[in-house]
Amino acid sequence: MRIEIINGPNLANVGKREPEWYGDESFDAFFSEEQALLHKKNVELTYFQSHCEGEIISRIYQCQDENVKALVLNAGAYTHTSIAIRDAIKNVNLPVVEVHLSNIYAREEFRHKSMLAGVCLGTITGFGLLSYRLALEVLIKKVGI
Ligand code: DQA
Repeated sequence: MRIEIINGPNLANVGKREPEWYGDESFDAFFSEEQALLHKKNVELTYFQSHCEGEIISRIYQCQDENVKALVLNAGAYTHTSIAIRDAIKNVNLPVVEVHLSNIYAREEFRHKSMLAGVCLGTITGFGLLSYRLALEVLIKKVGI
């Protein structure tokens, strides 16, 4: 079975970008480690990143077509604006956990609103890269895939 992590805009350089919010560990190093751990549990972990809203939407549909079982989604700033990504999540029959590295509720008020939260299984926010690990754990244990 396969789970995909989708990262949105400005999330290609985690580890270097605003480390006070996003930490100094590189996402790529974290991803390789997580991929190896999940491989032992027979879970294939894949990753997609795009700065473009439309590409993220196309990827969500592609995941469904490729029989991906669940998604971990950090839509970056699109979290707060994108009705289109919300509609795509609603249209696919996939459990999606919304994640954020930073605690969006401890930041500017415009980040407190998520367009996506209401159509996701749940939201994990504020634990750095651990947010992704927790989301994967939820998807593996709770959804039973
Ligand atoms: C983020 C939080 C968003 O508000 C911000 O625009 C990001 C990253 C996070 O992971 O903390 O790009 O999604």
